[in-house]
Amino acid sequence: MALARTTLDRDVFLEVRPGRGCRAALERALRQAIRSGRLRAGTPLPSTRVLADDIGVARSTVSEAYAQLTAAGYLITRQGADTRVASGLQGADRDHVDCAPAPAPHFDLRPGVPDLSSFPKTLWQRAFRQALARASLEAFGPGDPQGRPELRTALVEYLGRTRGVTTKTGRVLVCNGFTQGLRLVADALRARGASRIGVEDPSLPRFSAIAQAAGLQPVPIAVDEEGLTTNRLDEIDLDAILVTPAHQFPLGSTMGSQRRTELLSWANRHGAFVIEDDCDGEFRYGQPPIGALQGLDPDHVVYGGTAGKTLAPGVRLGWLALPPSLLASALESRSVADRYSGVLDQLALAELIESGDFDRHVRAMRREYRGRRDLIVAAVARSAPELSVRGTEAGLHAVLELPTGLTERELLSAAERRSIGLHGLGWYRRGVYSGPQALVVGFGSPAPYEFEACVQALAAMLHQTRHKSSTYPARG
Ligand SMILES: Cc1ncc(COP(=O)(O)O)c(C=O)c1O
Repeated sequence: MALARTTLDRDVFLEVRPGRGCRAALERALRQAIRSGRLRAGTPLPSTRVLADDIGVARSTVSEAYAQLTAAGYLITRQGADTRVASGLQGADRDHVDCAPAPAPHFDLRPGVPDLSSFPKTLWQRAFRQALARASLEAFGPGDPQGRPELRTALVEYLGRTRGVTTKTGRVLVCNGFTQGLRLVADALRARGASRIGVEDPSLPRFSAIAQAAGLQPVPIAVDEEGLTTNRLDEIDLDAILVTPAHQFPLGSTMGSQRRTELLSWANRHGAFVIEDDCDGEFRYGQPPIGALQGLDPDHVVYGGTAGKTLAPGVRLGWLALPPSLLASALESRSVADRYSGVLDQLALAELIESGDFDRHVRAMRREYRGRRDLIVAAVARSAPELSVRGTEAGLHAVLELPTGLTERELLSAAERRSIGLHGLGWYRRGVYSGPQALVVGFGSPAPYEFEACVQALAAMLHQTRHKSSTYPARG
């Protein structure tokens, strides 16, 4: 067995033992590595001298094996150049699975994704460089499951200033996006003996699945135009409720002050927790800005935020501001899950926030998204005025409620035929919401130069489908 270096100093793993029959074994090992695709077409192999040295055989043994495999078409040998793997032999193993993702729709109006073309590469590069330059050696050692203190300090200031979150550096936990944060909170609740968690209906199916995976039963609670309904909470036995008060996902309603008070007084009466998913908190277009629920009751509300919409989902950074009673348990869960988030990313985000660049980026994106929101609203009003546009005071998507006779199914099929990506509200229903059928249309994802074409495609699809629909009553 040997790890051989190629002439380019790359390692090649080959299972060969020195001794009798080692030439045949080397040939076999190389053939198998090539056929399985482990050694790809064009890969340079170690020189005969290096490989012979690494596996402890005579150089002539390697030369003969290479010559055999060259004759059989597995390798290409040219005078004075590396011996390389030939093409056309890979993937012969039937186990090979092609994991290429499904192609994105041509007009991508799927909700939940920001404009990736506006990711602030230059600012991130600057922040990363600063972070690297300033990082102490200790930062590269085993890290703190709670996250780097530099980032937690920056977040306390940022969240207090922009979202009205009341917390301390010692109560913030940096995680890999809100998705992981929710799992950590669900684990902490389960460890306290919790068994049932309220989820909004409609809401993201993934979050119910996460609660379930942690051993909590998700219980759907209907949402209306003021957010989560609170009138029946005392009748349902719940240990916690997951809400999106700033911009209900996906309906887009904002939780009013009366509902907020009712929800918090329920939590106090029952010793329960509210988990606040503030994923759209930064993108509010009307006045006045709505602060985080957590600021009203930091001992009963877990605040959850993410860089997934302000920067990009791929950054995989999120944060929790936890009540003291859940902190230790959430940290324990983090320590056994994956220990902590990448330290350089954390330090770069701290730099971005501290320098003011994060605020500037968010403000610029808010202007951009507000303009897009206006274009979508105007286009629907022109092309399909019977559809009611909802939930556009914040966030990166609009809900288009359908009139009787026009169905999600026919609009989704029409959209698919035209390669327009969007969602039907049906995908988010959890069983108790009884509102009308609707489309959930994201306006974050396309690049600025693509956006107008996306809106035109959507408008044309809506206009034509509503006219084609046999049951839909014509406008008077
Ligand atoms: C409702 C909601 N909350 C939170 C998130 C953010 O998740 P994450 O931070 O794990 O990317 C998303 C992203 O799609 C979302 O739709």
